[in-house]
Amino acid sequence: MDPEDWSEVRRLGHELLDDLIDQLSNVGERPAWTPVPPQVKARLEQPAARLPADFSDVLGELKRDILPYATGNIHPRWFGWVHGTGTVEGALAELVAGFMNCNVGGRDHAAVYVERQVIGWLADLFGFPADSSGLLVSGTSMATILALAVARESVAPGEMRRKGNSAAPGQLVTYASDGAHVSVRKALELLGLGGDSLRRVPADPVSGLDPRALEERIERDREAGLHPFCVVGTAGSVTTGAIDDLAALADICSRHGLWFHVDAAFGGALALSTRLAPRLAGIESADSLAFDLHKWLHVPYDAGCVLVRDPDLHRATFSADRDYLSRFERGTGAGDPWFTDFGPELSRGFRALKVWVTLRTHGLDRLAEMVEKNCEQAAWLARRIADSESFHLAAPTSLNVVCFQAEVPGGASIDSDEFNREILMRLQERGIAVPSSAEIDGRLCIRVAITNHRTRREDLEMLLDAIEEIRREIVDGTLA
Ligand SMILES: Cc1ncc(COP(=O)(O)O)c(C=O)c1O
Repeated sequence: MDPEDWSEVRRLGHELLDDLIDQLSNVGERPAWTPVPPQVKARLEQPAARLPADFSDVLGELKRDILPYATGNIHPRWFGWVHGTGTVEGALAELVAGFMNCNVGGRDHAAVYVERQVIGWLADLFGFPADSSGLLVSGTSMATILALAVARESVAPGEMRRKGNSAAPGQLVTYASDGAHVSVRKALELLGLGGDSLRRVPADPVSGLDPRALEERIERDREAGLHPFCVVGTAGSVTTGAIDDLAALADICSRHGLWFHVDAAFGGALALSTRLAPRLAGIESADSLAFDLHKWLHVPYDAGCVLVRDPDLHRATFSADRDYLSRFERGTGAGDPWFTDFGPELSRGFRALKVWVTLRTHGLDRLAEMVEKNCEQAAWLARRIADSESFHLAAPTSLNVVCFQAEVPGGASIDSDEFNREILMRLQERGIAVPSSAEIDGRLCIRVAITNHRTRREDLEMLLDAIEEIRREIVDGTLA
């Protein structure tokens, strides 16, 4: 399958790389999002070709049908959901990983040592012990499944794995804040514990879960004959950026003998900054931690991580003793333990390279500056909104998330949710900027989450000006 003419593929490769670097270097000059046209969607529904095609033609299709219609998160005015921006160096690392085509499930080769090094750096960042174990995964959703699998195993080591949930001494119950991400519930569903085994504890939009309410709930469940086994702390809730009092949760878990897991999907990035890290106090006591590198650490998608304090329990949850997975002292089969011992996958890509390259190139301090800058930008935006008669802050801003409504001007008879939804759609469809939405106190709001190293103050000013303009436009249209 190798090309007959390597010089032609070399030429095409260089040209492609030039195009990609050109596109990325002026990304802010293009729309923040471009909808995929119907004819492109139709072409992307064609069946698989039976015959080979010229690579240059395939690249032409790629440049025509795929490249222009990206998610948009590489754009300076992408503020939707929680998406990282990526870096050119990380993208080049992906290219290298593609060329090397490593399988990092196991065996003895450089990629394994790179992932170990990266896991060590991350464990150190969060104050985890040097011998804690970890694994790079697709994202926090997957990391949460693996962490809660280890937590479940801790209930009756060995037995849980063999017999399933029936080996537990009672119905296992997990606790998390009202604002916890849905991935926690999904993990419990997948582990056969049932989504209803998750107790949602009331939370504040800034300080997160109420520790007193948590403890009461645990005691009540125990008295009812249930088996509380895990508390999931949230470091950066998806809707408002709330951070639970992790030290208080660690203390409750220690007193009640519960597993303490933390979802630090994006808030974990605060650990980079000496100024912001104290807000995560207590994270170092967690039994397990799930977080993303593809969010606020700007590693290109996808890259998440699970860290586990007890490497033996982690390994015992996933390792499998089979002849075809035998380890040796020498040769390719050396290098024990293998990453497949710490998760369900045997074949795994070289995710670690883009993490390694991003962290090596930019260094923790520069990444920290970006996190601090985004928090300052969010605070500035929140102040502008609070000072304006056109807007209304839907929740306090304590991190990088600003939730607000555009006020419906007097005289216009439009429902506020409908009004704000229309503003959001016009912003996105015109490619001006991409905030997303949230529901707070039963009302739809525009949600700006800034995890974007390309965003400048001017981008936020442009966003506010555009909303103001669309606001007038909708009202004029309605009153016309
Ligand atoms: C707080 C929180 N937890 C979990 C997730 C899920 O992470 P991922 O999309 O990487 O699976 C997100 C995603 O935004 C999140 O914000």
